[in-house]
Amino acid sequence: MQIPQHLAIIMDGNGRWAEQRHLPRILGHRKGVETVQAIVGECLELGIGCLTLYAFSSENWGRPQEEVEALMGLLGTFLKKELSQINDRGIRLMAVGELHRLPKSISKILKESIKKTSGNDRMVLNLALSYGSRNELTRAMQVLGREIADGRMQAEQITEADIEAALDTHGIPDPDLLIRTSGEMRISNFLLWQMAYSELYFTEALWPDFSREHLLQALEEYSRRQRRFGLTAAQLRDTNANGGEKSH
Ligand code: IPE
Ligand code: IPE
Ligand code: MG
Repeated sequence: MQIPQHLAIIMDGNGRWAEQRHLPRILGHRKGVETVQAIVGECLELGIGCLTLYAFSSENWGRPQEEVEALMGLLGTFLKKELSQINDRGIRLMAVGELHRLPKSISKILKESIKKTSGNDRMVLNLALSYGSRNELTRAMQVLGREIADGRMQAEQITEADIEAALDTHGIPDPDLLIRTSGEMRISNFLLWQMAYSELYFTEALWPDFSREHLLQALEEYSRRQRRFGLTAAQLRDTNANGGEKSH
């Protein structure tokens, strides 16, 4: 089985999971955190290098205040409870998004956790928090614009690498595989630049129900995909026959 170096997941369907059981939505989110704990463990075991989880989008700030507060509470509890486990297991925590918009207490724990785990190298757990791809790209453009305005760079010199360097995901390879749960087939403002060549996989399973079996199914499907990066299948066969490295 082919193991993606970077797996990104849009964890969707917590609300529906709860609503189907006539429970408050927040209980769906709470159950969703249990899935996060389980799936982090599975990814670690499978040797995935980086796992990015879409935990809270820029747009999610518009949800009812009660739900936003509950989600922030769960995030804080998760960080406090899991930090030692994360660290013990050699996981490096990272985060992308407008972290300054998070409640102060949470951004503080987050920063400390990121710092504390920065020397770990078994797997990166990257949380997308208050994250929106258009917002990230806009901020990157602002950084580059400032470079030009200050005369440190010329507009014509901007390269794809410069744009990448200005993104929150700088240093993290592009996702090889994106999984979205709950049957929705959309990207919802997630890693638009970075997913230019990611394989996309959608499952009907709601996030709280997402299990090791669902993950393995996704990885099996991913293993069957041929990533051509614009080349022809014949070219890829030649490269493989020559024992050559992938071009990407
Ligand atoms: C995903 O579940 C979690 C977050 C967006 C924070 P949802 O809360 O979107 O669940 P549904 O889509 O309403 O079922
Ligand atoms: C996407 O889920 C964001 C996260 C999983 C954090 P949403 O449930 O917010 O997405 P849309 O708005 O239905 O596309
Ligand atoms: Mg949703």
